[in-house]
Amino acid sequence: MVGVKKKINVGMVGYKFMGKAHSHAYKDVGMFFDTEADVVMKAICGRDEQGVKEAAEKFGWESYETDWRKMVARDDIDFVDINAPSDAHKEITLAAIAAGKHVFCEKPLALNLADGREMLAAAEKAGIKHAICFNYRFLPAVQLAKQIIDEGRLGEIHHYRATYLQDWLVDPNTPLAWRLKKEVAGSGAHGDINAHSIDLARFLIGEFDRVVGHNRTFVKERPILTGSEGLSGKGSATEKGEVTVDDATGFLADFKNGAMGVFVASRFAAGRKNHNTFEIHGSKGSIRWDLEKLNELEVYFREDEPNLAGFRRVMATEPSHKYAGNWWPTGHIIGYEHAFVHIVYEFVQHMTTNSPFTPTFYDGVKCQEVLEAVDLSIERGAWVNVDEV
Ligand SMILES: NC(=O)c1ccc[n+]([C@@H]2O[C@H](COP(=O)([O-])OP(=O)(O)OC[C@H]3O[C@@H](n4cnc5c(N)ncnc54)[C@H](O)[C@@H]3O)[C@@H](O)[C@H]2O)c1
Repeated sequence: MVGVKKKINVGMVGYKFMGKAHSHAYKDVGMFFDTEADVVMKAICGRDEQGVKEAAEKFGWESYETDWRKMVARDDIDFVDINAPSDAHKEITLAAIAAGKHVFCEKPLALNLADGREMLAAAEKAGIKHAICFNYRFLPAVQLAKQIIDEGRLGEIHHYRATYLQDWLVDPNTPLAWRLKKEVAGSGAHGDINAHSIDLARFLIGEFDRVVGHNRTFVKERPILTGSEGLSGKGSATEKGEVTVDDATGFLADFKNGAMGVFVASRFAAGRKNHNTFEIHGSKGSIRWDLEKLNELEVYFREDEPNLAGFRRVMATEPSHKYAGNWWPTGHIIGYEHAFVHIVYEFVQHMTTNSPFTPTFYDGVKCQEVLEAVDLSIERGAWVNVDEV
């Protein structure tokens, strides 16, 4: 007979892109991972009643709410998952913490560093469990890269190069979605996609020391959004509004361990759809990863026989790779959505068994420090020490 398992109830705000990815993770996690508690998809929240009702039915939520305040206050919610844009993260988080809930928040943690620090302080004071959804850490190939680095197999790290390139804004008629408004998103390509690259760099090789950047807003005005809020919304034929965030931000970095870094995030990289990559060079070898081939890692070891040395393509699908064995037989690849299942698994374990967990709000704040140091360096036209912000 199957034993009675503990239950943990989630209430989730937002039901579009990330709302769907997270809903999928809650559905799959218990089927593929031995969680201490079953996740119950208790309530989903959105402002449009028809939209949220349909999402609740389609994704499999038990109930829905149209006001997050009501959902957060419900006694039958154990943790709150926030998939609304950045401007809502702080208010919902603080209310959830005040109601004694754990919080799983999307990235970037907040509109700005000050808000992020307030969220971290409140979470620590209340002693609740908190997580930020830096999902890419949780792919088997990225975990393998970390293992190789931690085992010293790349030696001393000299170079870290990251690109996160998209092209959805090259068309000047792409409408003014919330991602293009500073008061809602906090920043543009920088906070949206450099945030992921910064987190991966911290995860893989350690803390940033100083940064210097530059940015550009190539198209300064765009058609006002008339339809849906997502990336596929329609724009007005007559009315335009100002773009108040960066279209692209690049920066150089020095890391505390002496490594040199180069980072480029752009939504104007024609032909690049979601080109998230890193390449790392150390005294003993190198690693390269590309989200568009997310199961693979290119690895080069200098100790290899010279006549056979070269980058080898390693598939991170063996059961020995973290998370991979929970899915399919080796070679049967996984995809983008699986990283969300992995982070949900780890966070559920953390909430129910107190197992070690990162990334938390602390990592969200550390990422936000780098984001703001880069912005400050652009303002000043000079290098900025990250510890200064
Ligand atoms: N981890 C990742 O890889 C990743 C990818 C995309 C987006 N994100 C982050 O996820 C968050 C959401 O992005 P998205 O792409 O899902 O956006 P989206 O526009 O697709 O969806 C946003 C959702 O939030 C809802 N919403 C907005 N304000 C609200 C409010 N006050 N109350 C209730 N609901 C509200 C909208 O109705 C919508 O359902 C952002 O913080 C974004 O940076 C993370």
